[in-house]
Amino acid sequence: MTSRARRVALVGVYIALAAVVLAAQETPPPTEPQTTAPPAAPDAAPPAPTAEQYSRKGADTCLVCHDDAKMLAIFKTPHARHTDARTPFGAGQLQCEACHGAGGAHAARVRSGQPRPPIPIFGGASSAPVDQQNSTCLGCHDADVHEGWPGSAHEREGVACVSCHEIHATHDPVLAKATQSETCMGCHPRQRAQSFLPFAHPLRQDRMACSDCHNPHGTMADYALVGRTLNDTCFTCHAEKRGPHLWEHAPVTEDCSICHEPHGSSHPGLLAQRQPLLCQQCHSEAGHPSVPLSPGQLPTGMPSAQALGRSCMNCHSQIHGSNHPSGAAFER
Ligand code: HEC
Ligand code: HEC
Ligand code: HEC
Ligand code: HEC
Ligand code: HEC
Ligand code: HEC
Ligand code: HEC
Ligand code: HEC
Ligand code: HEC
Ligand code: HEC
Repeated sequence: MTSRARRVALVGVYIALAAVVLAAQETPPPTEPQTTAPPAAPDAAPPAPTAEQYSRKGADTCLVCHDDAKMLAIFKTPHARHTDARTPFGAGQLQCEACHGAGGAHAARVRSGQPRPPIPIFGGASSAPVDQQNSTCLGCHDADVHEGWPGSAHEREGVACVSCHEIHATHDPVLAKATQSETCMGCHPRQRAQSFLPFAHPLRQDRMACSDCHNPHGTMADYALVGRTLNDTCFTCHAEKRGPHLWEHAPVTEDCSICHEPHGSSHPGLLAQRQPLLCQQCHSEAGHPSVPLSPGQLPTGMPSAQALGRSCMNCHSQIHGSNHPSGAAFER
């Protein structure tokens, strides 16, 4: 039978079945899209595709037209693990349409001159609101993004999952340390600028990523930090600063970011301020002055020891806390 003759035959069957089909509910999506051709039994003839309908052959239908390298890259990702029934390409799943939605009408033959019916798309050009786009992903990933996502800064500000994640890429750049910060810095120019300062965590050297300190899906901590508190986040790598110390320095116990700028600084040690000003935000100069004394007293014009070199740290070297019995002033 030529395809034209077959279609004529199918139209007849369709008319006969029309009442039954209309009485039945909306055609449910196929529970198991075939990657091989479905049987061409005349009584299985579907009604003309509507916007709500899924294509009959799943990805095979789509790949007829969408077979460029970018499209095929998805088959190298965990999403295409067909042995895993949870993935879009697993048994019983809807393949491309698990994410893109019903594409029956879009994939069907279009009369010349007629526009091809659209299919839902993702990203900025999509007419679908972001939370609707995200709900497609959350349908399968609710457990992965955890309870932090609802109400997180990214969720509140309408950041889409696909603003960070690239689905049609062999390696999603945001998942790799070496490439992640580029994605984040696209929206966070301040952190990009700070990463160029002379003293910074080694993000540009690909030894660290933003996600070492932040969970982009949100957490219960401030600033979506991975630790329970800011200090706990730092202790995951700088454990020696945790103590316990016999003599604690109050601001250290309270919040490392009082003195350190985690994203980068022009002062050694990522300090938020140049010394001695850093210390003098809280400590009076009265005890030991740190400004250069008058030239009369110091003929060389040398500033006081309190301001030279490591400044206050020349003597108060154990600034994070001391365990020495006489370390109350953090000198030992
Ligand atoms: C007969 C060819 C054909 C088939 C089959 C087909 N498409 Fe398309 N698709 C197109 C064309 C042509 C466009 C571009 C339409 C436009 O630009 O208006 C397009 C556009 C798209 C877009 C939007 C791209 C964009 O940037 O706007 C998506 C997503 C898409 N198709 C997915 C699918 C999926 C999923 C399937 C399978 C269910 C499928 N297509 C089947 C021809 C096809
Ligand atoms: C896990 C979800 C998911 C699956 C499965 C999926 N896509 Fe996509 N697709 C997306 C997202 C998200 C975008 C938009 C952003 C991007 O390019 O990553 C997209 C973009 C597209 C585009 C537009 C590309 C462009 O250059 O703008 C086409 C066409 C497309 N997909 C076709 C397909 C086809 C065909 C399949 C099946 C082989 C498929 N998609 C499977 C999520 C998916
Ligand atoms: C039909 C269910 C389904 C849908 C829809 C889906 N995913 Fe997935 N996705 C999975 C499964 C299953 C895995 C593999 C998880 C694993 O290995 O534990 C996965 C893996 C991933 C991964 C990890 C990839 C890697 O390389 O490790 C990311 C990121 C991801 N999905 C994001 C998304 C985004 C964003 C969307 C929406 C555009 C989406 N997924 C839609 C089921 C789905
Ligand atoms: C602000 C950027 C950003 C947004 C928005 C985002 N993600 Fe992620 N996602 C990441 C990063 C970064 C990782 C890797 C985390 C890591 O390595 O600790 C990741 C990891 C994942 C993984 C893999 C988890 C695992 O344990 O392997 C999945 C699945 C995922 N995201 C799904 C989603 C879904 C679904 C959404 C939308 C609700 C989403 N993501 C929104 C940045 C983002
Ligand atoms: C599409 C743009 C976009 C991308 C990409 C993006 N963000 Fe954001 N991010 C935002 C917006 C918008 C906010 C809320 C406003 C603000 O604080 O700047 C935000 C807020 C944050 C906050 C503050 C959270 C809080 O609770 O105060 C952190 C931390 C953050 N982002 C980290 C990241 C990381 C890490 C990545 C990469 C994995 C990333 N962002 C990628 C747009 C983005
Ligand atoms: C060493 C840990 C660390 C790394 C790495 C890190 N951050 Fe942060 N981030 C913090 C801390 C701590 C805060 C909160 C206190 C502060 O801003 O000083 C913060 C705050 C933020 C904020 C909120 C700032 C505000 O003023 O509201 C954003 C946005 C942010 N980080 C984005 C990023 C991005 C993007 C990256 C990767 C380029 C990144 N962070 C890497 C520790 C880190
Ligand atoms: C994922 C691990 C990690 C986390 C979390 C982390 N750091 Fe770091 N930190 C590093 C690495 C790696 C270096 C660079 C050490 C080097 O260059 O040898 C560094 C360097 C530093 C330095 C400068 C050291 C020097 O010699 O100049 C300071 C200060 C610092 N971190 C403070 C913090 C603070 C404050 C936090 C919490 C907001 C934090 N770090 C969280 C890994 C981490
Ligand atoms: C009172 C201010 C102050 C606070 C608060 C503070 N630091 Fe420091 N930190 C300093 C100074 C000063 C240096 C020396 C910087 C230099 O000259 O290299 C330093 C150096 C460091 C260094 C690099 C040298 C070393 O000793 O390993 C790390 C790492 C560090 N701090 C981590 C932390 C962590 C983690 C916290 C929070 C628990 C913290 N700091 C809180 C003042 C502070
Ligand atoms: C955010 C405020 C703050 C900053 C910045 C700060 N400190 Fe302190 N410092 C304190 C507080 C609070 C105490 C506890 C005072 C007390 O117990 O009477 C303290 C105690 C001390 C002590 C012990 C004094 C005593 O009476 O026991 C010394 C020494 C000291 N700080 C030196 C420094 C140095 C050096 C710096 C700069 C690297 C610095 N501090 C930065 C708040 C600060
Ligand atoms: C030349 C060494 C030296 C330098 C440099 C130095 N200090 Fe001290 N500091 C001391 C000594 C010695 C004490 C007294 C310790 C004691 O009583 O056990 C002290 C005590 C303190 C105390 C405790 C309060 C007091 O007056 O007894 C504070 C606070 C303090 N210094 C802050 C600073 C700050 C801030 C700087 C930098 C501007 C600084 N120190 C630089 C040696 C120094």
